[in-house]
Amino acid sequence: MRPRQIRDRVQFLGAVDWSRRLFDSLIPLPDGTSYNAYLVEGSEKTALLDTVDPAWEGLLLEQLAQVGRIDYLVSHHSEQDHSGAIPTILERHPETMVMCSLKAKALLLSHLGIAAERIQVVEDGETLSLGGKTLRFLYTPWAHWPETMVSYLAEDRLLFSCDLFGSHLASSSMYAGSGPHAMEGAKRYYAEIMMPFRKPLARNLQKIRALEIDLIAPSHGPIYDRPEEILSAYEDWVSDRVSNQVVIPYVSMHGSTRAMVDYLTAALVERGVEVKPFELTTTDIGQLAMALVDAGTMVIGTPTVLSGPHPTVFSVTNLANALRPKLRYAAIIGSYGWGTKAAEQISALIPNLEVEVLRTVLCMGVPREDTFAALDALADAVRDKHSAL
Ligand code: FEO
Repeated sequence: MRPRQIRDRVQFLGAVDWSRRLFDSLIPLPDGTSYNAYLVEGSEKTALLDTVDPAWEGLLLEQLAQVGRIDYLVSHHSEQDHSGAIPTILERHPETMVMCSLKAKALLLSHLGIAAERIQVVEDGETLSLGGKTLRFLYTPWAHWPETMVSYLAEDRLLFSCDLFGSHLASSSMYAGSGPHAMEGAKRYYAEIMMPFRKPLARNLQKIRALEIDLIAPSHGPIYDRPEEILSAYEDWVSDRVSNQVVIPYVSMHGSTRAMVDYLTAALVERGVEVKPFELTTTDIGQLAMALVDAGTMVIGTPTVLSGPHPTVFSVTNLANALRPKLRYAAIIGSYGWGTKAAEQISALIPNLEVEVLRTVLCMGVPREDTFAALDALADAVRDKHSAL
């Protein structure tokens, strides 16, 4: 992609990575991603806002080929998909100073080996005049690292938000517009990256709400030209509200746990509860994470392998614990062959989830009448709890 103009003397740079399919060796990227950088040229100074993943630094250098001086390089976030090309930019531009938050300095030193004398720490709320373009830096801790900050370009009412409000979407469109695709991408990104930091995010959103914003320019995905939509969506996601929805991540080896999941799903639907089962050997974990953004209850379905939960269930439960969704209730169901410690081991995996465990329903071999009765009782309990939400 060539540089694209967003506003007078404000350009959209960076790379659209159409073919990347995995992030952090963990997160599926069904729609690719992008690494956005921005250039703001004042009458006196020029600032580059973030860089790109190191794999794309050649493209960024091409985009900057006609730019004489880069006085400032604003690093909103030290993770390498945005900071990775900073060393090369500094090598090519000996005049450039890196502007970052206090906590970012230590991270840039340790992650990229940048010389300390090339880094200038900015305070929360500090402004930087470029000449007719003024950047205000706002610390936004835990969006999603401790050092993260955003920049507000006052003259253009433009917020550069880095990872915050981002989406892993490769697109030729510069703007998100309105429509489900962009918001679904944003929700997936929130679920996978931001959700563990819901409470500090709520505080950051209040800070951002005090600004008058026409555009939000993140470092992944398209620019939001209707900022109210993404701000409102985030406010909903970080709120304490949960929906009348049950998420059931499960694995079945010989069909018994699946039969229990199917029975419980039907029983919950009969009771007016929305259900999202996820068979984990085929599930896109991003879809599961998205479902966990709103759900009131998670029911974990697992067979027993070597006396514990199925390893795939173990791994996904560990991930759910790390993502810290705002679930209120949980339950464990499943079948075992000759003995099991699955429930104890799963319970020990979810210390971060502030949930009430409603019931554990385990059966030896195939489920029978008493198993189905216990699943009906679980469905009753979920209905009652959700109706009081
Ligand atoms: Fe897009 Fe946290 O890096």
